[in-house]
Amino acid sequence: MADWDFGRRRWAGAALGVILLTGGTAGAAWADPAGLMPLPREVREIGASRVDEGLRLQAPFAVRFDGYHDARLQAATARFQGDVNRLAGLSETSVGTAGPTLVIATRPDAKTNRLGAAESYHLTVDAQGVRLTADGPDGVLRGLATLRQLVERRGEGAVLPYIEIDDAPRFAWRGLMIDTARHFMTLETLKRQIDAMERVKLNVLHLHFSDNEGFRIESLRYPRLTTIASHGQYYTQDQVRDLVAYAAARGVRVVPEIDLPAHTGAIMTAYPELAAGAFDPNNRISMFGAAMDPTKPETYAFIRGLLEEMSGLFPDAYFHVGGDEVSAAAWNNNSAIRAYMAEHGYADAIALQDHFFVEVNKIVKSLGRTSMGWEEVAHQPIDDDVVVQAWRSSQATAHATGQGNRVVVSAGYYLDLLWSGADHYGRDPLDLDATPPDSPEKVLGPKPEGPLNAAQAALVIGGEAPLWAETVTDEMLDGRLWPRAALMAERFWSRPEVRDPVDAARRGVVVQEALRTQGLMDDQHRRAMAARLASQDADAVVTLASAVTPVRNMGRLTDVFAAFRSGRPPQIPSLTALVDVSAPDSVELYRLTHWASALAAGDRTAAAPLAAALAAYRDNHSRFVAAAQGVPALEAAAPASEETARLAAAGIAAIDAIVSGKPASAEWRTETAALLEKQAEAEAASSNVYKIMGGVPQPPALVLMGLAPVVKTLFEAAPQ
Ligand code: ACM
Repeated sequence: MADWDFGRRRWAGAALGVILLTGGTAGAAWADPAGLMPLPREVREIGASRVDEGLRLQAPFAVRFDGYHDARLQAATARFQGDVNRLAGLSETSVGTAGPTLVIATRPDAKTNRLGAAESYHLTVDAQGVRLTADGPDGVLRGLATLRQLVERRGEGAVLPYIEIDDAPRFAWRGLMIDTARHFMTLETLKRQIDAMERVKLNVLHLHFSDNEGFRIESLRYPRLTTIASHGQYYTQDQVRDLVAYAAARGVRVVPEIDLPAHTGAIMTAYPELAAGAFDPNNRISMFGAAMDPTKPETYAFIRGLLEEMSGLFPDAYFHVGGDEVSAAAWNNNSAIRAYMAEHGYADAIALQDHFFVEVNKIVKSLGRTSMGWEEVAHQPIDDDVVVQAWRSSQATAHATGQGNRVVVSAGYYLDLLWSGADHYGRDPLDLDATPPDSPEKVLGPKPEGPLNAAQAALVIGGEAPLWAETVTDEMLDGRLWPRAALMAERFWSRPEVRDPVDAARRGVVVQEALRTQGLMDDQHRRAMAARLASQDADAVVTLASAVTPVRNMGRLTDVFAAFRSGRPPQIPSLTALVDVSAPDSVELYRLTHWASALAAGDRTAAAPLAAALAAYRDNHSRFVAAAQGVPALEAAAPASEETARLAAAGIAAIDAIVSGKPASAEWRTETAALLEKQAEAEAASSNVYKIMGGVPQPPALVLMGLAPVVKTLFEAAPQ
């Protein structure tokens, strides 16, 4: 029997890699880790397990440190208590001795908040209270994150299950990359993401601080970087220090990236003497083909000065120096650079880039830091210390580990491509076939045989999900990252066997709702965007937005690519349309998907809530059309609204057929098949970035029908 209240904890399957020693009856209430993401290694119920048993949180914990503690742990415990107080309906600031005990036992760890910190922990909740033991302070933070997800609001108060958990991460590097160059992200927005990261045990925030569009950190040595090339949108040095400290308090390392020698339009706008050739700072086409001049001593002097200043702001041992997408033309078109290459025996631009990276790496090392770079830096054998970020395909993981370098895998995890969470979630960092190269040029060396041997696998230190921000504003960031980032957190933390996408989506709903109650603003921002589009009836827009998903793989930029093709100056669209309000993974669709698969599997209890939800989508169409009147950005979406309504109606007919056992009409079958076929074509149109660049037409309003997979499941389950 399924459980349609996603907030309740019920065991729904044993395929989760969780060891359950249920001492009680079937239907054991606590054993289902409904709100846990990432899923811990081992979860054991202890004692009886009736729904209303567990540790009641009627007063704040009496916290006791058994041995080592420090200010960071005390602050983390206070934040945890604040969250529990809010959930349990206690005064937010209450502390005390009357409640259950929370005993925390840990010891100092020389690697605290560094790569390789001790993050494993053991958690026991029983009638005596909570005991959290960990090999180091970071393990305490991870244990508190689990405990926070276990708290269940119940009636007037809150309860913790009697449970025992043993947990440790699979990978030490579990990151998100946020691009602050294409769209500036405010400090508050970044802090909100760090809060959410702590709650799902992500531990690296890689910030892309500079690109063609802007340089985002105040530099006292090179003030033109922000006076000329930031549009006034940058972090002061004090703000950077504040951000780094905020992250460290939450067990999140900040890894800065200054992208070199390409993606440097902002740097070269401020200091044109460092450029290898002329470019127009207002023309994105020419900026893509530009790079710094790697033959000039001034270039390296600038890089040394900049990295010296920047590394003073970032205590982390790793400093990312980019290295991606250098256009050969940037250097080949310059006769002085060609002469330099001939003189020094660099056969081509790639060889010259190899030389450039070697020089930059020397600078980074001299500053006491370790370089990280996008996979192109590993074209040739490089210093063993360098961490390589595989991004174009899983094959780069084989190449770089084969050369003895550690790898952080991002291929397959580009959240800006707007794939579904399940799509990203299904790709394992160690699987060399998970994300094949999408073009032959994007390969380093010969095709690897695979699988990775044990030595290579040990060099894969983790994964990072990047979110490039060409089409993401500050307001959209929460919704573009979450809940998919939580699924990524599970991919990087939990064991590889934890890979059931249906169960992940089910838990993802609970986790997303918890993140919202704790401050994530995806929903609030979506409503604000909808209200600006249709102040009379924002709900009609929000409802449609929850049933559609944006076209994928940069389909949002289809007009920009059209401009590229015709040589017109491309304009990034203003990001205020329905497609920007909609989400690649709406929790509403998670629910519908879950109901549809349950009904298809024979669970009739799913029929009523699913039919009610579909009816609401069907009936939204006339409201949407009224709200859209006179708003071109919405009028363009009327066909998407109509199609959503038609899909919803088709789904309701399928439910009737399934429940009654009587086939729906032949006419329905033909019409629904045609609707689904049309959607399959729309999906295919943005299945690959080259199709979009080539001008394959995209669907109206640049949205896909999120209801299509739901209706397809019902269509296939309906009696013939
Ligand atoms: C990249 O996506 N250019 C690293």
